[in-house]
Amino acid sequence: MTSPTPSPFVFFTCQPGAEPALKRELAVMEPEWRLAFSRPGFVSFKCAESAPPNPTGGRMPVFARTRSISLGRVSDSSLEESSRVVWQLEGLRAWIGSSPIGGLHVWQRDTQLPGEGDFEPSVTPLAEEVRKSLLAAARETDGIKIPGGLDSSIAPQGAAVVDVVLVAPNEWYVGWHRAESRIERWPGGMLPVAAPEDAISRAYLKMEEALRWTAFPAERGDQWVELGCAPGGSCQALVDRGFRVIGIDPAEVEEPLARHPQFQHLRKRSAEVQLTELAKVRWLAADLSATPQYTLDAVEEIVRHPATSIRGLALTLKLTSWELATPEKMQQYVKRVQSWGFHDVRLRQLLHNRREIFLAALRSRGQRRMTRRRKRQKTDSRGPQEAASHPPTDNLRFDAPIEQVSRHHFR
Ligand SMILES: C[S@@+](CC[C@H](N)C(=O)[O-])C[C@H]1O[C@@H](n2cnc3c(N)ncnc32)[C@H](O)[C@@H]1O
Repeated sequence: MTSPTPSPFVFFTCQPGAEPALKRELAVMEPEWRLAFSRPGFVSFKCAESAPPNPTGGRMPVFARTRSISLGRVSDSSLEESSRVVWQLEGLRAWIGSSPIGGLHVWQRDTQLPGEGDFEPSVTPLAEEVRKSLLAAARETDGIKIPGGLDSSIAPQGAAVVDVVLVAPNEWYVGWHRAESRIERWPGGMLPVAAPEDAISRAYLKMEEALRWTAFPAERGDQWVELGCAPGGSCQALVDRGFRVIGIDPAEVEEPLARHPQFQHLRKRSAEVQLTELAKVRWLAADLSATPQYTLDAVEEIVRHPATSIRGLALTLKLTSWELATPEKMQQYVKRVQSWGFHDVRLRQLLHNRREIFLAALRSRGQRRMTRRRKRQKTDSRGPQEAASHPPTDNLRFDAPIEQVSRHHFR
């Protein structure tokens, strides 16, 4: 069965279990919207009139991985038939008439928490198969122009992207979004990150994703500190990127990190550290098994001390209860960090976060522009072709595709 007309619906995908938190955010951001169909990991809303071209005012809710304006729903028995029907959707055809397709994203809603068993969110083989089938069907459909670039699922910045979310294997929600932010260029908002075979813990993935999402202007050799570093996955990701790292934790750190020359372990609680030992630290990460309040207290003690000079924060805030994830609370976290002199604060539930959110903070938004300027200078001085074939090594690239390694079992 196929929905006959375009509809004023907007849909989001999120971590399963995060729907109530996402709904609370949207009740504040878009009070006129009414909840429509929802499943774990998928939430849709009916807008007062037609869906706005830029839902939620261009701001991605903290708990949303993606947001799409609905173009219809397809639920047919065979892969080929469903693929054919997608390109016949009236809403899609009307939209294509006004906006050329710049990308095609297909992904499955998650039904498991990241880290549950061996599960980590990714574009599944089924989603790949559906994408191929959709591309084949598009080529056989009159009036559908598929640019060659669609063979890659990474959309160019600013492109209008067709979204197909597999809510069930034979129940597809079709929509579109504009790839305005870094994550919106990837299907399902899934920035590809990988961990090596010897990754100590899945915190490696969290840190990789955090670095890629934030694109902090950090450089090889910069000094980081992490509060709550054991057993060591996130610090391992940092040293692998060429940073020097101090890890603070009373618990033991595992090999290969423990004896890494760029890593120093202070085996104590953060409150027991002499802050003069952190004078050279420029970037502070925290991943404490504690409430957001406790984590923010511990961080505040360090960043407000005159002996330290921290440029950016990468904080995991554990949601020991969903009550800690209300819009009011999240605003409190942001305001508190801003009161320390970090004016550019962003919150997001990362793909690899479990029941937690990630807070990234810089002293100013201008620091973000610094990274882009440096990248441009590198490209200009080497010429675009050389720059494309040899990524810079002394200035870290957080947004370059990283080679995927096979899944492995984290200890
Ligand atoms: C989720 S684990 C950290 C995982 C780690 N980031 C990794 O990459 O493997 C939380 C850690 O916080 C540590 N912790 C809790 N309170 C702490 C404190 N006040 N100071 C330092 N570490 C603390 C615990 O000992 C525990 O090892």
